[in-house]
Amino acid sequence: MKIRVNLNGTWREDEVEPRLLLVHYLRDVAGLTGTHVGCETSICGACTVLLNRDAVKSCTLFAVQADGAEITTIEGLGNDSNLHPLQQGFWEEHGLQCGFCTPGMILSAYQLLCRNPRASQEEIRKGLEGNLCRCTGYQHIVKAVEYAARKMNEGNPNP
Ligand code: FES
Ligand code: FES
Repeated sequence: MKIRVNLNGTWREDEVEPRLLLVHYLRDVAGLTGTHVGCETSICGACTVLLNRDAVKSCTLFAVQADGAEITTIEGLGNDSNLHPLQQGFWEEHGLQCGFCTPGMILSAYQLLCRNPRASQEEIRKGLEGNLCRCTGYQHIVKAVEYAARKMNEGNPNP
C-alpha cells in the first residue's frame, strides 16, 4: 500500500506492507534510527514519536495508520548545532546513561510541556510514567525536563 507522511517537516511517499509497524517504517524504510525498539508490546516507550503532535508508541501502530499524518521523531526536534531545550536539558542535567530510552523520554516530555509548560515535578513524573529507564533512577530525567521547562518559559513569565 502507498502511504504519504510528513516526516520531520518533509512529505514523502512509500510503498509499505499493510502489516509493517510504524516503528519499523521509521527505522528501516525512512532510516531514522533514533526511534528505538524495546519491548514491542507498548510498555517501555522507547519507540515514542509524535503523531500529529500527540506522543504515541510507534510499536503499537501500523505504518498505514499514519497515512496523511505529521510525524516528528527525535531527529526532527533539533540538531547538533541547534539543540532543542529538552535535548540541552538532558545534556546539562545528565538525564541519560546508555541513552536507549532517551528519544522516547524526550518526545513524551515534549508533549507534556506543550500541554503543561509549568509542569510540577510530580506532573513530570506522572507524564513520563509510560517511559521506562533501566539506568538513571529517573532523578536526572526529571531535572532535565525541569531545565527545559525553565528555558522554554524564558521571556514568557505569565502562566
Ligand atoms: S518498543 Fe514500543 S513501547 Fe516498547
Ligand atoms: S539511560 Fe539507559 S535506559 Fe534510560
